[in-house]
Amino acid sequence: MPLRSHVIGHGAYLPETVWTNADLTSKVDTSDEWIVKRTGIRQRHIAADGELTSDLATAACRQALERAGLAPQRLDLLVCATATPDETFPATATRVQAQLGMTGGAAFDVQAVCSGFVYALAVADNFLRLGQAQTALVVGAETFSRILDWTDRGTCVLFGDGAGAVLLRAGEGSGRNTDRGVLSTHLYSDGRHHDALYVDGGVSSTGTAGHLRMEGKEVFRHAVVRMAEAIDTALAANDLTPGDIDWLVPHQANIRIIESMAKRLNLPMERVVATVERHANTSAASIPLALDEAAGDGRLKRGELILLDAMGGGFTWGSALVRW
Ligand code: ACO
Repeated sequence: MPLRSHVIGHGAYLPETVWTNADLTSKVDTSDEWIVKRTGIRQRHIAADGELTSDLATAACRQALERAGLAPQRLDLLVCATATPDETFPATATRVQAQLGMTGGAAFDVQAVCSGFVYALAVADNFLRLGQAQTALVVGAETFSRILDWTDRGTCVLFGDGAGAVLLRAGEGSGRNTDRGVLSTHLYSDGRHHDALYVDGGVSSTGTAGHLRMEGKEVFRHAVVRMAEAIDTALAANDLTPGDIDWLVPHQANIRIIESMAKRLNLPMERVVATVERHANTSAASIPLALDEAAGDGRLKRGELILLDAMGGGFTWGSALVRW
């Protein structure tokens, strides 16, 4: 019998401090009207001084474990997607591992910026389906507020901090698209687009953490095309049509990109999970935060088919199909 990665838990954490668009007008020349019209964002959560990416990740993971009633000692894999690690090394995942009290298995980070959660899910799914691990936490956690240039109105209004996690356990499936769990993942990257979205610092280049730089229009143009391609690939690989999809849970960067993906799938916005208005772009945390919210309020029901779709710096992009 082929193995499938079943979702058995979910968790989230958002820092307490909320900055509205109005709060940003004291920092840069912007307006609530501009931000809402161009992006759909109204507010974002900002990590407190001393609150680290690992703290956000640990809180989300702990909630996922508690909801599933699973002891951390039962985990044998923890994959943390982040572009804003606590330190250059060790991996933020190992700090989360220690804070959770997970004493065995392996923990490591995956770096694919805003596609990070889809990448981390793909890695964990492959471990589980190969039988190399049985129970895995996949967490996306970011403190983007720390790498923003708070004088650049073109980028600082777009991002926020947060963490979301899903708990996976290997279970038997039939190999058909009616199985529960992760049905497929598709990952892509094209490093030629580095200059459109990057951080202008790093250990081996400047010796500093650097700040996020983005050519917004260029990223937008690619996001719409690449995310649509990843949707088509996921459907074709599983012999499914847009009509089979119950929920779209895309990366939350801009409501206009999200609406364009919904249109491609012919899905009404009621079947799309959108958190960008309240969370802004939390990079690798955005999809698991959205999953947690929709699962928590009862929108996602067992057996429903969910399409995840993301695009980020690199460029990286990808999709995953999950039957809840
Ligand atoms: N407030 C007011 N005006 C602003 C602001 C602001 N915060 N930011 C830019 N402007 C101005 C610009 O200066 C420009 O003015 P000008 O016409 O006088 O030169 C005007 O608004 C238009 O700016 P554009 O950048 O062309 O605006 P656009 O409509 O492209 O929207 C945005 C910008 C929101 C960034 C959009 O391009 C976008 O969402 N891009 C995609 C981002 C994304 O998807 N990222 C995902 C990956 S992120 C990751 O991986 C880390």
